[in-house]
Amino acid sequence: MNRARGRALIVGNWKMHKMAGEGRAFAEALLSRSASLTEAVELVVCPPFTALAAVAEVLREGPIALGAQTMHQGEFGPFTGEISAPMLRELGVRYVVLGHSERRAFCGETDSAVNAKVHAALRFGLVPIIAVGETADEHAQGLAHERVRAQTRAAFAGVGADAAATCVVAYEPIWAIGSGLVDEPYGAARTIGGIRAAVPGLERARVLYGGSMKPANAAALFAEEPIDGGLVGGASLELESFIALAAAARHRLPL
Ligand code: PGA
Repeated sequence: MNRARGRALIVGNWKMHKMAGEGRAFAEALLSRSASLTEAVELVVCPPFTALAAVAEVLREGPIALGAQTMHQGEFGPFTGEISAPMLRELGVRYVVLGHSERRAFCGETDSAVNAKVHAALRFGLVPIIAVGETADEHAQGLAHERVRAQTRAAFAGVGADAAATCVVAYEPIWAIGSGLVDEPYGAARTIGGIRAAVPGLERARVLYGGSMKPANAAALFAEEPIDGGLVGGASLELESFIALAAAARHRLPL
């Protein structure tokens, strides 16, 4: 593992799951069960907005970081239903997922909106986790590299190399999300190599794999040097599987 990229990173994306009380209970259990893991693996949980405050209260300044699943690019303003970076910062949020394929598909989030959000996150001190990925058709046509490199370049337009190096990119093939299908580890690692080469600074940034990552397939993915961790949906909702993923990520580190 390239030590310059630091610890492995496992991000739990809860999507539209867990009430505030469930989130709080999960965070308490995770905190007490993960003490031996957090030195080697950075853990982030991304609850829905309605559970952020309850989870923040549990995680406070501890070793597990809080993330949000999206945000608006503005600071304040007439944007009904939106949440800004300063509002997230006020709750103790440190990471924000931007451009998840579900937001691109269901909420019309464009490459240029993702780019504006990346700039806003950096300006207000949040670490963006930028999701990119190709559709099943693009994958079948051999267009995955081209697609994710274009998305990555668009997301980072106008971002300097040093700032880009502080960001996280998540390569999430859309056909693998929630489907039980997982990209072949060597192929995912090659695509991630292409992502790193697309934007100056990303050779130093953490790049994750996402899409049906489970304890059973994680070790093979983490054995690939370019994969720094995972953006995890379904398997992040159960404490045991989330902890098993963190343990698998820890084992990739040389002692
Ligand atoms: P999944 O979701 O792990 O349930 O496939 C990953 C994601 O959408 O971030």
